[in-house]
Amino acid sequence: MKPAKAIATPNIALIKYWGNRNDELRLPMADSLSMTIDHPSVEISIEPSDSFSVRSWNSEGKEKQLGKDDIARFARVIDLADNYLSGLAGKELLPSEISIEVRSHIPPKIGLASSAAVFCCLAEALAASVTDEFPLDAVQKSVIARIGSGSAARSVHGGFVALKAGEGSSLASSYAEQIADEHHWALHDIILVPSHDEKKVGSTEGHALAHTSPLYAKRIEAIRNYRQRDCIDAILKRDFEKLRFIAEEDCLDMHEVMRTSTPSLEYLTEDTHRIIADVERLRTREHLPVLYTMDAGPTVHLFCTDESRDRILDYANAQTSCTVFETVVGPGSSVLS
Ligand code: PMV
Repeated sequence: MKPAKAIATPNIALIKYWGNRNDELRLPMADSLSMTIDHPSVEISIEPSDSFSVRSWNSEGKEKQLGKDDIARFARVIDLADNYLSGLAGKELLPSEISIEVRSHIPPKIGLASSAAVFCCLAEALAASVTDEFPLDAVQKSVIARIGSGSAARSVHGGFVALKAGEGSSLASSYAEQIADEHHWALHDIILVPSHDEKKVGSTEGHALAHTSPLYAKRIEAIRNYRQRDCIDAILKRDFEKLRFIAEEDCLDMHEVMRTSTPSLEYLTEDTHRIIADVERLRTREHLPVLYTMDAGPTVHLFCTDESRDRILDYANAQTSCTVFETVVGPGSSVLS
């Protein structure tokens, strides 16, 4: 293993990943689909060391004190990645101890979960560190990224990306695949953050509750039967209206599953509902291509085309109680050195 440094950005799902068939290995119940955004990024450096360590700096360059659970999550990725890589290469590739340094450029106030970018970046750095002995392809990198955060698998690729649920219980049975690259369709994601409160229940715990919702089985059937296929079709044909219909249906469906879980998870706030209502009025009145989608938090992602971007940005900037962040479709993770 040689020292390595990589960079990655978040991705935002249009068909949401929610719930696993195996929580330990983060093997999803159903396929999902996302767009990788161009920024903000996370950089990770790794090198062989005398003892395992993880240090992290925030976007202001201040060192963040990581909790025991955070460190254990990194340690688990390294352990499982080590097993996976030795299985592939037929020999040990990683040393017994590694030091990891994380530098995030994701502003704490934009309500973007950084775990997708962080664990994708770690996978990219691990792959770069062993590339002389055993070069990994994107599928293999996405499997390693998925160990830390299911959605992280999708940030390995740029553009529009599917996370295939796969079948069975092997670590490698679920991986990410690119549907179309970042040059295919110039979609923007204007991010509106109404609240800066920390999430009450993180997605790792949330996934484990999905099965308690009476609506969950129907959700999985819908994704398997038509949603994922229709979403891929809408992207390949650049059919914004079809994409809007399917992405909003899927997002609202996921939030209903969350709400009807035991215990109930309510991530959307009054502000989220107000923004959705505004956007629905705005697009009816002005015939604008714009769709909304929300993850496990109140933040609203407004996807729009070049044509509607300025108008949506004007609307977003007029929401004085919200933080606004502007992104566009971007490339996947890459090696820096
Ligand atoms: O990758 P995780 O475990 O943080 O889960 C992501 C869950 C959602 O953001 C709600 C949906 C998604 O597909 O990104």
